[in-house]
Amino acid sequence: MALERTLSIIKPDAVAKNVIGGIYNRFETAGLRIVAAKMMHLSKEQAEGFYAEHSERPFFGALVEFMTSGPIVVSVLEGEDAVKRHREIMGATNPSEALAGTLRADYAVSIDENAVHGSDAVESAAREIAYFFTDEEVCARTR
Ligand code: PPS
Repeated sequence: MALERTLSIIKPDAVAKNVIGGIYNRFETAGLRIVAAKMMHLSKEQAEGFYAEHSERPFFGALVEFMTSGPIVVSVLEGEDAVKRHREIMGATNPSEALAGTLRADYAVSIDENAVHGSDAVESAAREIAYFFTDEEVCARTR
């Protein structure tokens, strides 16, 4: 298995629920390392840019409104098979389909407010990481 990086977002609903630490704990327990992190309150332009591939979808406006409704925590996670492992920890996009014990089963209320985001492939992870972080902001572990 390859050492990968993936982008994680703890969305406004989960930040409002005060579960940042609980979510980070799931990542670390699963062997993923946090190698970059920042709290941000996205502008409309930043959210629209991040979700540009969904701009024609009917839910796009609501998604942008939700993602700008409060602060988020954006992180880069590193580990073996990190993209797939992170998506397993998150669970299905729609929390009603998410397996028990996944983040979305535990913390999400609906597909519109589903607690977390994770890159869906190594290629999109690279693009999404570069959207939020400079190379210097991603810290290689030295010990
Ligand atoms: S798809 O159909 O595979 O393209 O959808 P997906 O990539 O899983 O999700 C697209 C993002 O939009 C958010 N979102 C919704 N998706 C589907 N239906 C509705 N109503 C909806 N509302 C919001 C969904 O959570 C995905 O966001 P991220 O941040 O990628 O999880």
